[in-house]
Amino acid sequence: MTPEQQQSTLVTSGRSRTAPLQEHIDRAIEDLLASFPEPDQLAPDERRGIIARYTVVLEGNFIYWMTAAYLSGASGEAHSIIQDNLLEEVRDNHPGMLRKFAIAAHAVPTDSDALAVYRNLHNVRLFVGRLAGPKIVLMMAFFEGFITRFMPYLAELARRQGSAEYEYTDVHGVCDVVHTQELFRAVDAELTLMPAPLPPATELLEGVGLLRTLIENIVHHS
Ligand SMILES: [Fe+2]
Repeated sequence: MTPEQQQSTLVTSGRSRTAPLQEHIDRAIEDLLASFPEPDQLAPDERRGIIARYTVVLEGNFIYWMTAAYLSGASGEAHSIIQDNLLEEVRDNHPGMLRKFAIAAHAVPTDSDALAVYRNLHNVRLFVGRLAGPKIVLMMAFFEGFITRFMPYLAELARRQGSAEYEYTDVHGVCDVVHTQELFRAVDAELTLMPAPLPPATELLEGVGLLRTLIENIVHHS
């Protein structure tokens, strides 16, 4: 086998190993969305709380967690994909966009909103601090995938709060579809570099599980 053929076999087997992980993540997103209450069933303060807790989790953490994915990634491909993502986040001021969204929906986070997600947010931060390469990239692929699918729901909550500010939800409903696919490509590249045998899927999906719990906390807190 030539080195090129060897490389291509590695890449192919990496992809086939990524497919079950991607299926797990797609299912997790479907399950989350299906569990959310209909916006018209929510009281105004419940709608406000979901937007506020979402803002607590995303505004100050998304870029930091994506940076951790960059720092812990080992492959050139993952680095270049994550760098493009970070560049867009910083250059287009996504945290500022989210803050504007929360202000317009009268859902600026309070102390109690921050406290409501504190423990689950802390657990994700501890995980991120371990800088475990492919696991963080997987978690961010899940995050991007979830965010894209969540945007119509979030926009509907804001509309019912009397807001007409949709830049954040419009931008993230579109660009994150591309970002999610790119991040799965980054996962492929990271898995390809890992020595065989790969850890079991349950171990690779550790960060996905912690983030899923945090997202449930954003929506279902009462
Ligand atoms: Fe963003």
